[in-house]
Amino acid sequence: MHRMTYSQEELLSSIAYDEPLIANGVRCHGGFVGGRYRSPRAAGRGPAIAAWQAQLGARRVPLLEIPPELVPPHYPNASQAALLLREGVREPLVRTLTTIAIIEGFGAMIRDQRVPDLSRCVREELDGTACAHLAAGLFEAHARDEAGHRSEGGHKQMWEAARDLALDNPPVPGDVLMRLMTGRRSGGRQRLFAELDGGFEELLSVMVNVLVIEVFAADTFRWAETLLGNAEVSTKPREAAAMVGYIRTDETPHVEYLRTALSELRACTLVGVDGSELRGAEVVDGLLMRTLRVLTNQRPRLQREETRADIAAAVAGHRDAGALQKRLEALDEPWTPPDLEGRVLCFAQ
Ligand SMILES: [Fe+2]
Ligand SMILES: [Fe+2]
Repeated sequence: MHRMTYSQEELLSSIAYDEPLIANGVRCHGGFVGGRYRSPRAAGRGPAIAAWQAQLGARRVPLLEIPPELVPPHYPNASQAALLLREGVREPLVRTLTTIAIIEGFGAMIRDQRVPDLSRCVREELDGTACAHLAAGLFEAHARDEAGHRSEGGHKQMWEAARDLALDNPPVPGDVLMRLMTGRRSGGRQRLFAELDGGFEELLSVMVNVLVIEVFAADTFRWAETLLGNAEVSTKPREAAAMVGYIRTDETPHVEYLRTALSELRACTLVGVDGSELRGAEVVDGLLMRTLRVLTNQRPRLQREETRADIAAAVAGHRDAGALQKRLEALDEPWTPPDLEGRVLCFAQ
């Protein structure tokens, strides 16, 4: 029987490395063992997540899974992006890579996520589950991975390094953060399950949202590894693509602890503030579908429109703008958002 309970210190501890990761001169988290990159904070977190998942498997509780066909493709695709770089149109890509780095840094906010007293929100005992460790190490480890910790860089700095390695320290547009901040105003989420404690529903919504964003990021990683690893357009293809690969490796525990905790809650009975009972599956699946509807449809459409406008503005300065625009369009791969009705997102192990 594997151990199910871990201290915060254990969940935050890293294995011993032969060599640290230095990203374009910045000391980052993680490091190398026998020449292979190993993620930070994996010494306790890795076995812990495996044990909680095994526990679910033994109870025949299905594990949430978001099928890859739901993931919207990155725009511009890697061929379009490479064409832009070959033609000297760099600003839109520098903007995209800088935006990704900033968003990774925002990941630090997960440490501020409040976890209410779960014994009042969930009927079953949660000792020895991922849920019981959210506020006791898992959120903190996640925050440190994304934004860095103390003098050690995290994904924010690693994406900046990947950009600077591939594009040779390009000038960064000055309005990236401002544009991101003004575009992020959202009016707050609507309650879907008003019977639940407000803080508990908020926690579930954030976890579902972050899980989907983490899963969908996989496509951005593939895109970036292809583009930044393309020797035709990248100054340091091997180093830049490897850097993106390290970040991708680090994302695995984020997806895994979130889907484990949400799968645990799916199998529980949730208790409303008035004592009423709701099936965990109904709540988690309802929140998940709401997030998926937005993130497979509205959000990729808006992102595409915004990026298209950026590209068109940058291409306008090219000596043969009309022809370049046509070549870009010829490389376009249209994508239809999947039909989410009746989707199964949970699979027995
Ligand atoms: Fe990340
Ligand atoms: Fe992540």
